[in-house]
Amino acid sequence: MRTFHVLPLLAAVVTVFAGPAIAVENNNQAKAATKVSMRSESAQPHFKPTGKPVSAARGEAIFLDHCALCHGIRGKGDGPRSAYFVQGGQYIPDMTVAQVLAGRDKELIENIREGLNRLPEPSYVMPAFKYILSDEEIRSVLAYVKTFPSQSRKK
Ligand code: HEC
Repeated sequence: MRTFHVLPLLAAVVTVFAGPAIAVENNNQAKAATKVSMRSESAQPHFKPTGKPVSAARGEAIFLDHCALCHGIRGKGDGPRSAYFVQGGQYIPDMTVAQVLAGRDKELIENIREGLNRLPEPSYVMPAFKYILSDEEIRSVLAYVKTFPSQSRKK
């Protein structure tokens, strides 16, 4: 009869000790998966060159599709996704401030292409767009982003 009482206890002990180990394992797998999909050498671009000239007007559509989720439709850094950012632990720039963007075109294009993660995990990163946006699209979206300071002055 006694063994019947011991068995559930044993099960509970095993769960308590093995549970966190399994959770860590899952977490590591998740991290590995993220790294593979973001950094994989085998990842191929998903776009065809558009052959169109760089245009801030086209950049607006690209921004709403790919960037507003985090950066907010006016670039203030208040997109719906930003609600998940760690308070005080996440930097997401207010792009309506001209100084944030001024005179850094080359660097900004590189950061949009390659993604950006100045802070260690678990902070959110800016994803790399080189696999889904062409060079022209990246330049167009940057041209649009650079209109945010003057847009916000008008209001
Ligand atoms: C998943 C959320 C997310 C998305 C989507 C996103 N960004 Fe970002 N972006 C960030 C974060 C976070 C930072 C700040 C990263 C840092 O400094 O470590 C950032 C930074 C930037 C910066 C400033 C870079 C610098 O060097 O100062 C620019 C410009 C920018 N993003 C443009 C874009 C554009 C254009 C798109 C769409 C094509 C986009 N972002 C999509 C989260 C995002």
